[in-house]
Amino acid sequence: MRILRSSFGFSRRLKRLLKVESRRPVESESLTSLAWTPPIQIFVSKEPGIFVLDQRRRFSIMPEIETNQRDSDLFSPPSDVRGMTKLDRTAFKKTVTIPVLRVRKEIVNQLMRSLKRAVLQRPGTKRVIEDPEDEEIRLIMLDPSKMLTENSFEKAELSILEKFNVNPQISKYNLELTYEDFKSEEILRAVLPEGKDVTSAFSRVGHIAHLNLRDHQLPFKHLIGQVMIDKNPGITSAVNKVNNIDNTYRNFQMEVLSGEENMMTKVRENNYTYEFDFSKVYWNPRLSTEHNRITELLKPGDILFDVFAGVGPFAIPVAKKNCTVFANDLNPESHKWLLHNCKLNKVDQKVKVFNLDGKDFLQGPVREELMQQLGPHSQERKHSMHIVMNLPAKAIEFLSVFSSLLDGQPCNEFLPIVHCYSFSKDANPAKDVQQRAGAALGISLESCSSVHIVRNVAPNKEMLCITFQIPAAILYKDHTLNLENHEHPPLKRQRTEKAFSEEKTQIASTD
Ligand SMILES: C[S@@+](CC[C@H](N)C(=O)[O-])C[C@H]1O[C@@H](n2cnc3c(N)ncnc32)[C@H](O)[C@@H]1O
Repeated sequence: MRILRSSFGFSRRLKRLLKVESRRPVESESLTSLAWTPPIQIFVSKEPGIFVLDQRRRFSIMPEIETNQRDSDLFSPPSDVRGMTKLDRTAFKKTVTIPVLRVRKEIVNQLMRSLKRAVLQRPGTKRVIEDPEDEEIRLIMLDPSKMLTENSFEKAELSILEKFNVNPQISKYNLELTYEDFKSEEILRAVLPEGKDVTSAFSRVGHIAHLNLRDHQLPFKHLIGQVMIDKNPGITSAVNKVNNIDNTYRNFQMEVLSGEENMMTKVRENNYTYEFDFSKVYWNPRLSTEHNRITELLKPGDILFDVFAGVGPFAIPVAKKNCTVFANDLNPESHKWLLHNCKLNKVDQKVKVFNLDGKDFLQGPVREELMQQLGPHSQERKHSMHIVMNLPAKAIEFLSVFSSLLDGQPCNEFLPIVHCYSFSKDANPAKDVQQRAGAALGISLESCSSVHIVRNVAPNKEMLCITFQIPAAILYKDHTLNLENHEHPPLKRQRTEKAFSEEKTQIASTD
């Protein structure tokens, strides 16, 4: 941001830029854009370049809403950028007139504390500048919506000024705003059709801004992408989701709107590092809390089976806790980056990685490990086994695989705990998920599961996680065999089930 002194005493370049006329008195054209003014007279002060607001005139006070509205206009980009589809940064140049108070530099800090109310509060805009004419003097920028004349100071403020021997006379200053001074939202609001949503929110995936533009924003997509890059340090590429995630591997179809085409990126989540090609695998920064929630449930020595592991955001933190992890993903690219990230985070010895369909993974490596862990020679279990199934659009369909999965094996009561994700658009999403998961298993889960709301995906669409211990009646056809106390559902609860049922965030199974 550049602060420009108006009128004489300055470089020719600045004068040209400002085109200030030294008429006397002058009906203020520039002030018409200001928040506080009906047209007022200004006089050129004795001091070159500083205009003094006419103190003989009383100002009418505008209703607050209108004042705020006009104040925000003052700091918005020029109106002729509306409809721009190719970014022209030079078109955002604008000069605004700001009231200022001239003070000696040594008292600035003391004054700023007492003048908080009156001082301009605009993030990114300097509140104190050096008087270009006198290095001993500072100019305190005042809030144009509040500070019209010295009468605008409150009594207490005036007495502070008097105490420090400061003349309360307000001067005005021409401040040049450029593209750099506007926030992304201000730029988009000025460019996009009036009254339409300009939301500048995006998901950040390493150097990539991942946008989800609405139809009315599409004609401006390249400009929007460039603004995101310009205004967000570290972002060098902006992509737009082309359609919903409906492909098998859950990666986005995306279009690069602006910046680098390179989608190879690196992210940090919960203190772990992940590298991957964002155009080929699934990654959602909004799941970090969920990844952490599940990680916290496991204790050293526990076993995790991650059926839809992606590039490792459950598998890697859990392995770091000294657990054994079996991680699987059908997408060969996810599998490749999962292996890579295990090495990167130094847990490759703890994670066994597979590239199978979820069903084959459950019926193959998972079944084998369960048989070993639950078999006749297993010691009394001290550790829990968790099966994470994060494929919300489909995971419930995979639950039927558990039916008779351990048939013929000696029955054991230390059974694995499943965390299965699902979307729901139902008015009672928790109940809906319980019912659908129960139906897939052929039992009622109402009294022996908990449901956690993970996030709101869209209006009326929730992502949830249902957690339950797989009933023996499901895993074993004849589940009474070798089971000392011959339990039937509802099941005897184990340590880990107790742990998850104690979570504050869970929804009561009966709700
Ligand atoms: C929603 S992502 C979750 C990834 C990871 N667990 C996370 O939390 O970020 C689902 C993953 O399941 C994988 N996937 C999709 N269908 C699959 C299947 N039939 N068997 C195994 N993995 C599958 C996708 O490639 C994707 O990586």
